[in-house]
Amino acid sequence: MNAITAIPQGLDLRAEIDRLRKERNAVILGHYYQKPEIQDLSDFVGDSLELSRRAAETDADVIAFCGVRFMAETAKILSPEKIVVLPDMDAGCSLEDSCPPAQFKAFREAHPDHIALSYINCSAEVKALSDIIVTSSSAEKILAQIPKDQKIIFGPDKHLGGYLKRKLGRDMLLWPGVCIVHEAFSETELEKLKLQHPGAPVAAHPECPSHIVDLADYVGSTSGILDYARHMEGGTLIVATEPHIIHQMQKAMPHKNFIGAPGADGNCNCNICPYMALNTLEKLYLALRDLQPRIEMDEGLRLGAKKSLDRMLEMASGTVGQGDLGNR
Ligand code: 13P
Ligand code: SF4
Repeated sequence: MNAITAIPQGLDLRAEIDRLRKERNAVILGHYYQKPEIQDLSDFVGDSLELSRRAAETDADVIAFCGVRFMAETAKILSPEKIVVLPDMDAGCSLEDSCPPAQFKAFREAHPDHIALSYINCSAEVKALSDIIVTSSSAEKILAQIPKDQKIIFGPDKHLGGYLKRKLGRDMLLWPGVCIVHEAFSETELEKLKLQHPGAPVAAHPECPSHIVDLADYVGSTSGILDYARHMEGGTLIVATEPHIIHQMQKAMPHKNFIGAPGADGNCNCNICPYMALNTLEKLYLALRDLQPRIEMDEGLRLGAKKSLDRMLEMASGTVGQGDLGNR
């Protein structure tokens, strides 16, 4: 019998999670792409930057990270003294998978005059090989602080990198990774949906390919999209990102209508992140009960990765001057 099937039938999981949260002095951090039931019992729900900030600041003894592995690793890098648990250790990310550290190291070494700006969706090893980490909500602000003549490698998301190149006119070398979830939106189906809802704006995440971003009225991080939904004038929004974020929109704005952008078969279910979906209430309960699976990290690796993450946190709050930047 595995641990999940051994959970007593009829156990009130929500009450048990609450009890364990208090007993362990734990904080539950959840990403907007988590299942609604997990979002609803999280102490804080946010985008990658907000979750990193919370992880760095919390005074809890345990962080139960309901997101994917690179997010829980980030929490451990920033809060090494805490126990960090991830309900399912297989919750990876296609962007992280696209960027093996040895290949990334060779790429860097082939371009010694470039600095490496890396999207937070990468392994701790790649973070340690990078100069500055960015999230989708901080990338523009951080890039604006880098001198125009500084050569840059951007990885692992070629769509976010391409979007930044076009928007800010920066010539960056791009690593060829993609998010399988945002890659699956269909331009043809989105065009059809727009015709069915004339006047409804489209909000897209910059992990989407350019043919989807070009159809969007707003492009931004998950928090940015949520904010756009709050302030838009109309009552209907087409949402081109992982559809679980719609749960927060419907909670905050029950009078508005949110429609998930479709995938190639016209059914937006193919845009559910399979990694995020691995976390369940049962696994969260077990993680809090057993304090496993736990993120462990070599201290040398942690300190290496922390440098580029610290730089992100400083630059995202605007506390680093241009003179602080340069080659490794
Ligand atoms: P943000 O929440 O930072 O926009 O990131 C989206 C994402 O894909 C996380 O994996
Ligand atoms: Fe990775 Fe995409 Fe899933 Fe985010 S939505 S965790 S980028 S695969």
